[in-house]
Amino acid sequence: MPDLDTIVSLCKRRGFIFPSSEIYGGFGGFWDYGPLGVELKRNIRDAWWHSVVHERDDVVGVDAAIIMNPQVWIASGHVRGFIEPLVDCKVCKLRFRADQIEGDRCPECGGELTEPRWFNTMFKTYVGPVEEEAAVAYLRPETAQGIFANFKNVLTTTRRKLPFGIAQIGKAFRNEITPGRFIFRSREFEQMEVEYFVKPGTDEEWHQHWIQERMNWYVRYGIKPENLRLRPHDPEELAHYAKACADIEYNFPFGMSELEGIANRTDFDLKMHSQHSGEDLTYYDEESNQHILPYVIEPSAGVDRSLLAFLLDAYDEEPDKEGTRVVLRFHKRIAPIKVAVLPLSRKEALVNLAKDVWARLRPHYVTAYDDAQSIGRRYRRQDEVGTPFCVTVDFQSIDDNAVTIRERDSMAQIRVPIADLVDVLRDKLM
Ligand code: GAP
Repeated sequence: MPDLDTIVSLCKRRGFIFPSSEIYGGFGGFWDYGPLGVELKRNIRDAWWHSVVHERDDVVGVDAAIIMNPQVWIASGHVRGFIEPLVDCKVCKLRFRADQIEGDRCPECGGELTEPRWFNTMFKTYVGPVEEEAAVAYLRPETAQGIFANFKNVLTTTRRKLPFGIAQIGKAFRNEITPGRFIFRSREFEQMEVEYFVKPGTDEEWHQHWIQERMNWYVRYGIKPENLRLRPHDPEELAHYAKACADIEYNFPFGMSELEGIANRTDFDLKMHSQHSGEDLTYYDEESNQHILPYVIEPSAGVDRSLLAFLLDAYDEEPDKEGTRVVLRFHKRIAPIKVAVLPLSRKEALVNLAKDVWARLRPHYVTAYDDAQSIGRRYRRQDEVGTPFCVTVDFQSIDDNAVTIRERDSMAQIRVPIADLVDVLRDKLM
């Protein structure tokens, strides 16, 4: 497992992730995704959506607004309860979350700390032209509430029967007191959440189902099972809405830490929104002839944390004749670039043919083109960003209309007619 600095510097050097607003010195807790990062992130979102929405017959999606009616956050308990204890060091002025430090002195300089003050981590803004209390709104700290607020809309428009789920991927914002560990804890991040509505009494069984499904997802897309762990929450650490919760943890360089939480939210949210909105959010159960409030199982994952775990898990180094070969052994679905086309030299005839091959592949796969420096260097550059296949166009290609496919992990090479290239790669990328 690489250390975090190795990954941070690879991300910067190769265009995965940059500090936000870097030309102004950055901005704590905010990150920008570069050309490779944006592809990687899309692939992670797509792999999640594929497995929780498209492959299933019981989950549909929504894409709700980030800024919702502020009543939502009163009903959900966030205005009152989404708070953290903040302490300041009287000497060095650094700030900490009181529940994240040991002892009662500053962890940096040993100075005296202030008494904890409660701090709500929702970002506030004003909607409309006047900055007054009545215009205060919040940037959502979780995507979940956009789902609960649309429960009735989805129920009536899709005529779903329990159990069924609603999925959403989108940005969430938290004014974290101590953002850090690269993209692990940031102030703007992305969540992938399902709210899965079930009949009360079947909730514990469905909780287990989703724990298993979500564990399997990480392994399916390449995370080594030995780097994952399931950690059930102790009763005292449960969120205000949860009856039970289990975290999927990943073996990050800073220790086993949460990748995803799978909570049993009971009927808390639908009950609160019914009360506060005055809307009837019950479900008519034909079997029992009764209106019931469904219970909710919620797998809630972070796109950015998953991305960090995929990067760390894929990272590998091995000795080679130039020193060290760095390889990101990404699963093919996750890899940001699928194929790179490399002409053996910059001779015009080769470059022209390579560009034809590149144009042929682009409609099908995210394909890069690289003709700078030696072929060995170019293979290494693609290995370092996890490209599963390189296609080399050589002098013989001009005569036999064939190219060489080189595979990232085994470095094995096969010769393929250009006419068959799209299909051969499709089989390999499946
Ligand atoms: N709706 C439930 C919920 O929001 P959470 O455990 O607070 O639960 C779910 O967040 C997931 O969102 C986490 O497991 C993590 O992957 C991601 N997440 C939460 N806070 C984050 C932060 N500050 N930076 C990056 N990801 C975060």
